[in-house]
Parts: sequence; structure tokens; C-alpha cells
Amino acid sequence: MNKPDYHNIKYLFEPHSVAVVGASRNPEKIGYKVVQNIITGGYKGRIYPINPQGGEILGVPVYKKIEDVEEDIDLACIVVPAKYVFESIKNCTTKHVKHSLIITSGFSEVGNIEEENKIKNYATSHGMRIMGPNMFGLYFSSSSLNATFSPPGIIPGGVAIITQSGALGLAMIGKTAVENMGLSSICSVGNKCDIDEADLLEYLVPHEETKVILMYIEGIRNGERLIEALKKATKKKPVIVVKSGRSKRGAAAAASHTGSLAGADNVFDAIMKQCGALRAETVKDAFTWCKYISNNPYPPGKEVVIVTNGGGIGVLETDACEKYGVSLYDNTNKMKEIFSPVTPDFGSLKNPIDITGGAQSRHYDEALGAALKCDSIHAVLALYCETAVFDSEKLPEMVRRNYENYKKQKKPILFSLFGGQKMEEAVTNLGKENIPVYSNINDSVSPLGAVYTYKNYLETSSDDIDDVDLDIDAINKIVEKARAEDRYFLLTHEAQNIMNIAGVPIPRTIIASSLEGAVKSAKNIGYPVVMKIVSKDIIHKSDAGGVAINLLNKKEVVDAYEAIMRSCKTKVPGALIEGIEVAEMVQAGTEIIAGAKIDPSFGPIIMVGLGGIYVEVMKDVAFRAYPLNRREVLSMISDIRSYSLLLGVRGEKTKDIDSLVDINLKLGAIVHKCRGISDIEVNPVVVYEQGKGSKAVDTRILLSRD
Ligand code: ACO
Repeated sequence: MNKPDYHNIKYLFEPHSVAVVGASRNPEKIGYKVVQNIITGGYKGRIYPINPQGGEILGVPVYKKIEDVEEDIDLACIVVPAKYVFESIKNCTTKHVKHSLIITSGFSEVGNIEEENKIKNYATSHGMRIMGPNMFGLYFSSSSLNATFSPPGIIPGGVAIITQSGALGLAMIGKTAVENMGLSSICSVGNKCDIDEADLLEYLVPHEETKVILMYIEGIRNGERLIEALKKATKKKPVIVVKSGRSKRGAAAAASHTGSLAGADNVFDAIMKQCGALRAETVKDAFTWCKYISNNPYPPGKEVVIVTNGGGIGVLETDACEKYGVSLYDNTNKMKEIFSPVTPDFGSLKNPIDITGGAQSRHYDEALGAALKCDSIHAVLALYCETAVFDSEKLPEMVRRNYENYKKQKKPILFSLFGGQKMEEAVTNLGKENIPVYSNINDSVSPLGAVYTYKNYLETSSDDIDDVDLDIDAINKIVEKARAEDRYFLLTHEAQNIMNIAGVPIPRTIIASSLEGAVKSAKNIGYPVVMKIVSKDIIHKSDAGGVAINLLNKKEVVDAYEAIMRSCKTKVPGALIEGIEVAEMVQAGTEIIAGAKIDPSFGPIIMVGLGGIYVEVMKDVAFRAYPLNRREVLSMISDIRSYSLLLGVRGEKTKDIDSLVDINLKLGAIVHKCRGISDIEVNPVVVYEQGKGSKAVDTRILLSRD
């Protein structure tokens, strides 16, 4: 008897045999629809419907028990009520089923976590992998397998869809049919108790027929694995992601829908960008991009020309190009040379090329033909505003003709047709022929923008990781000491020690335990200095009068020492005072916040933003998953709106951004390598002029609770 191959995901997509446990003769039941779809979908393997009553379904003999089947089975679809699922899975293991699609609902999504875990653990320990529960099944074009209860009419093609929501996925199937969008696969992951998006990507990425992958995500279970899988996937093909739960209420709804955390949206957004995934705001945008990408060539370069018969629509398209990162060709001499023979004297030869309201079919042919011939133009956006002089009957033919010519030469062309009834009909009909024709300006630019974003990622991303050497033992000792004292936070001097160990520059600091010690420390550090009370019992140091700044000489240090002690003893009576911290007074610079933490969805992440006291108000922060390389850290820093402050404004010199990159990498390495630490926040990091470094002024460190 063959030993089950636990890891081979191939059998999920290309099984030699499929059992449907809970197959029914009742056409209204899911157990009937699944059998019907497998048969009518043209699946060539062996089908085993399982139902205690036996008999036949749609001419296929039914087995009373899975144990009665004469051979081992690759895939089982489970469509029995929740209370029978565990028993069914147990029975499946007698036939060495490699994968089970558990369509049944009623598990972790409604709090029945224990039963779900029991099933998953049993299956795993018997070499079986589980997809679901709470899912609609799986369709795979290459094996003609439609093991779902989807509506009929899936069109085979180049788009693979992985969705966390079953109902949305089923509805997407209907929508793809209406839009004539071909699918290579569609499946829902449901509660993801075992198989998740990362497993499915592993199989779909090398699958040749799949040109683009669309993922609908509500929550992340194992973000670190997903990051790895997405990075691998996007090297080979575009992955488009729609994620719900952006709003607080949406996140709560997602949590109760599939029992997973939505996570912070800005973190999700940043990490998708880091992985090269294209995030679409709506399902509609995602469909538009998928359909475009699966049917059209990639532009050979970045120069795009707009050809229009209307100035206004040309301006709107220009705005859309800026919004979606589409770069417009601006070689005026070349455009004059190419387009003057085909443009009226009163038209415009600057991009957008305006062939004017009098343009007819042949004028479009001439202008689009001229753009096609020019190698320095890499893609064309063709716009048409409906006019009386253009014979609208001829429009679809003109679009088809030019689209075919461009396709032959592998140059992208996208059309936007704006006007009345005839225009709307043309858009719908040509769209069904998979020609990129849109009535909305943004829709005609955003797919091209998505392609350029993806191409840019491929050209600039790198797998290199800039590792940081750390004395992990020394850091762990500090963490262990705090935990032994039952603390989940580090004291200031402990946090400073960790910064010193990691080589993060901090202001020179000495803890003094007497007045004489404070005076000596100030002299050693050099004036001006700052003094702060050190006491576990005094959390708000300034409120207790425990801080003095800009002390210029010995007398000021003596006076401040006495004033701090007096005030703290009065305001927090009984507080245990461990000493006074004497520190270098930090010179002014650009104040940045930098941090690192263990994100509940994605594991170690780093953060940077505009620092100081307005962090919460400005909310100007950017994130990335750790580990990563310097270039990616720099890209994170350049994502913040205040980046120009670091580049230098109003004649200021550029700041030492490299030293900030160093600090970010070191903070990330600390939380990545010392998992006892859950959060580090440095605010401010003062960044000086280039060559003069940065200083981490105030560091807070929190410890993990698990
Ligand atoms: N082995 C084999 N067959 C069995 C067993 C068993 N151990 N136990 C029962 N059956 C048979 C039943 O006799 C029945 O067949 P019959 O019609 O010949 O009597 C069949 O299995 C189905 O059992 P029912 O009790 O009739 O259950 P029903 O079909 O009503 O519901 C289902 C089962 C569909 C799994 C239901 O419990 C469920 O979970 N529905 C929700 C599914 C869902 O929405 N999933 C998420 C998808 S994605 C989305 O959101 C749309």
C-alpha cells in the first residue's frame, strides 16, 4: 500500500480520483451540485460518490462507505453536516486520502475551534491535508476538475483566484462568466485550518496557464509564511490582492466571518508593496487588472502616448496617468515628426496628441498606426469622445483593427470610449472579446499603471538581506533579569544598554547615585547636560519634577540635583530612588520616530515616521517586514510624507539618512533575534546633517507576554 505523500499539493489540483462524502440525489443539496459539477466539468479521473443509501447519482454508482472503494483515493470533498465531519475524515484515512476539501460550515468561524483542531490534528497525523473547513471547493482548469458547488459556466483561462470568502468567490465565478474572464483555478481557503494561501501559491506559481493570481484576503494566520510565498510568486507572475477589513467595523466583521484577525491596514498595505503584490481597492479594479494582464503584452518600456479627439478627456487621462504612475512620453521633437503628418494644423502635437473633434475612423487608424511604428513609444492610450462627424457604426471595427495590429507587435493599447448608448454597447461587446476597452477614464489607465508598478518592482527588488551582528546573549540577560522581577518593560538604563549592545548611537549617559557622582558625571560627559530621576516608582518624570535640561555648569547641576530630589520625594512619597541619570544634552536635528515590533499577523516589522510630540496627530509612518535590505529600508523612509525634511528643505543640508537606515536595521534585528522583546520605540531619533549621524534619544522597550 502506498504511503500518503503529505506534502504533495499536486494531488489537490490534479487528483487521479475524487470521493464526495455526503453526495446526494437531491438536486437542491450541495452534495448533489458538487457531484454534478465534477461530472459536467469533464473531469477525467475516477469519481466516488459516498452516501449510506448507495444507488446511483447522475449515472455514477454510489458507495455506501468510503471503505468500500477498491483503491486509495487522492481527494475527498466533505459535504456532511459538521457533527459527522470528524468521523468522515477518520474513514477517509483508511483510503489514504491525500487532501480533503471540507465544505461544511460550523467550525472556528462560529467558535467551534476545538472540533476544527481535532479534525486538523487527526488528518495531519495521518498524512492528510485539509482545505477549509467552511469553503466552496476547488476548480482547476488543467485537470478539468470542478469540485465546487459553483453556478455553471466557468470559462477556462489565465486567472487564478484564491479567496477567503466562499460566497464572494462563488459570486466571482458568475461575474467572470459575464465578463468573459477565463479562470485557470478558483478556490476558497475558508477557515484555513491547514492549507492556506501560501500552499496554493506554491502550486499555482509554476503553473503555466496561470498568468495572474487574484487573492481576496480577510485576515492573516501565518504572515511570515505568506510574505515568503508572495515574494517567490511575484518574481514569476503578478499577484493582485484585495483585502477587506480596512475600517474598524470591517475588521470586526472579518474576524467573525472567518475567525481571523484583519490586522492593521497600513501594515498590510506596506507589506504587500514590499512583496511586489498589487493591492486593488475594489473587486472591480482587481477584475479589470486581472483581465487586462491575462490577455495583453507587457509594455517594452515606460513611454506612453495618449491619442484623443477631445482636449478635456485628454487632460483627465493625463491626471489619471499621474495617479497610477504611468509616465507620458515627452520628446516633443520626435512627437512632431511622428504625428504632424496625421494631425490637423489646429490639433496638438504635445502628449496628449489631439487629432481634434473632426477625427474619423481613418484619422485614428493613421495616428495609432504612426504610434505603433515608433519604437520609442511603448504603449498607447486611445480616447474617443462621441461626435456626430465620426460614424459610430465603424467604431468597433476601428478598435478591433488597431487592437489586433498592436497585439501582433506586442505593444499594449487601451481604449476609452465616452458617449451615449452606442458607446456603452461598444464597450460591453468589445470587452467580451477581451479587448481592453473602457468607458471610465480611470479604468483605462489603472491596468497599465498596475503593470508598470509590477515591472518596476521586478526591476528594483532584490532578495538580499542586510543582516546585523548582535550579541544576543547579552541582550537576553537584560530581558531575563526584567522577567525575573515580573516586569514586561525595561527601565531606561536597561533599554540604553541594549541600544549600546546593538551599536545604536545614544546620548552619553551615566547613572549617578550621589550629588558628587552627578557633578563628576556631568564633567566627564561635557556641558550642557540633562538630568532625570531614576525610579521604578516614578513613571511620569516631568510631572514629578524629576527632569532638568540644558544645565551649563557645576552650579546648575548641584541646584538641579537638589531640586529634583526634593520635588520627587514630595510629589511621590515613598518612591524608591535609584539615582539620577546625567546625559549629554542632545543638539537639535530632524526628529524621527523609529521602532520595531512583533506584529500579530506578520511577525517582526519595523517602522519609521515623523517623530517628536506630534506622532499621534501626524500619523506619518511607514512599515516594512523584517528581515530586509538597506534599499528596502530606504524605500520605507522615503514613503513618509516628511521625507523631504530629511532631504533638506529651504536650503538645509541633506540629513544623514544612512545612519537612520542603520538604526532601523538594528531595531529590526533586535526583535527578530531576541523574541523576548515585543516592541521597541525610539522617539525621537535625532538625525543630523550627512556625515554627522543620528542619536536615539528616548528608547522604550516592551517584553513579550508569551
Ligand atoms: N457519509 C456519507 N453521507 C452522509 C453521511 C456520512 N457519514 N452522513 C450523512 N450523509 C448524507 C446524508 O444522508 C445526505 O444525503 P441524502 O440527501 O441522500 O439524505 C447528505 O449526506 C447530506 O447530508 P444532510 O444531512 O442532508 O446535510 P445538508 O446537505 O443539508 O448539509 C452541508 C450539509 C451542506 C455540509 C451543511 O452542513 C453545511 O455546512 N452547509 C454550509 C456550507 C457552506 O456554506 N460552506 C461554505 C461555503 S462558502 C460560502 O460561504 C458560500
